[in-house]
Amino acid sequence: MSDRITIRRPDDWHVHFRDGAMMQACLPETARVFARAIAMPNLTPPVRTTDDAIAYRERLRAARPAGSSFEPLMTCYLTHDTDPDDIERGFREGVFAALKLYPAHATTNAAEGVTDLNRLDRVFERAEKIGLPLSMHGEEVDPAIDIFDREAVFIDRRLGPLTEKFPGLKMILEHLTTAAAVDFVRAKFPQVAGTITPHHLELTRTDMLGHGMRPDYYCMPVAKTERDRRALVAAAVSGEPCYFLGTDSAPHPLARKRSIPAAAGIFAAPTAIEIYADVFDRAGALDRLEAFASLNGPRHYGMAPNEDQITLERVEWQAPETLAVNGPEECVPIYRGGQTLRWRLAAA
Ligand code: NCD
Ligand code: ZN
Repeated sequence: MSDRITIRRPDDWHVHFRDGAMMQACLPETARVFARAIAMPNLTPPVRTTDDAIAYRERLRAARPAGSSFEPLMTCYLTHDTDPDDIERGFREGVFAALKLYPAHATTNAAEGVTDLNRLDRVFERAEKIGLPLSMHGEEVDPAIDIFDREAVFIDRRLGPLTEKFPGLKMILEHLTTAAAVDFVRAKFPQVAGTITPHHLELTRTDMLGHGMRPDYYCMPVAKTERDRRALVAAAVSGEPCYFLGTDSAPHPLARKRSIPAAAGIFAAPTAIEIYADVFDRAGALDRLEAFASLNGPRHYGMAPNEDQITLERVEWQAPETLAVNGPEECVPIYRGGQTLRWRLAAA
């Protein structure tokens, strides 16, 4: 078994950078590892137009550590008012890498999302025509649907029909959490691919609820069963081109994670590549980490993989518990912070 692995530098296809002081503190955690990352648009107010995205991209670039060549990739928060001409402009000018669909109220800052998918037909037609991918938070928001069934019902009711209505529209089902989603993506690839987070490779709903309630393990979509978790690990470590890395790193201040109701979202960036490496190592699949982390994502998004490399080594280290934002009085809990991790990023 190898104690060191060198792979092409990975990209993160799903990150919440936030804005202001939170962004200043969190963005370097992604930039230390990843060359590019999809910047989620669920700010308040959301990133809805090409101009919004250009302005946000400038703020993200300004938050990079000195000398960093990290590049944020921008997404457009879909609403019923999204203008097909504006998304085409954003795509042609190299601003938008994808559209982002939030069913209204599905998750943090999704209040302005979509209630009626049919009202986006002109947007989807245009995206299909120009080759702009659609990424989505795949959860059904009908209140009659049990929270553990939201992903599977979204696939049946919404995503399946959407792939048939727009067969040329490239899609990404974000943060897969169920065996059903794993199977759907494999069956619908190359039209649909899926991202998998580090925490959904490790956690089940029993970890979140079975040993005292753990809001630090609470994110949308919520973790599911052990059978689902195993299906996610098998999918990730398969190296199949339909699955790739997206951390859904979603920082919230500690006080918001501990309040009632607790905020949904797990800040995964500081420990993500280390945990992916551990999961692949335990599965005896380190040789497929590069496909998952560095090759499959750019291929699906129609981009070239990165040329430079990173090295990971099997060395135990203790992850910090929190990241300070503007002083330690406001801090963000880190996924698996305070615990001993088995892999770390080697110094460049
Ligand atoms: C994300 C956030 O905090 O912005 N929360 C989460 O639970 N994952 C939003 C999202 O991706 O659902
Ligand atoms: Zn997210």
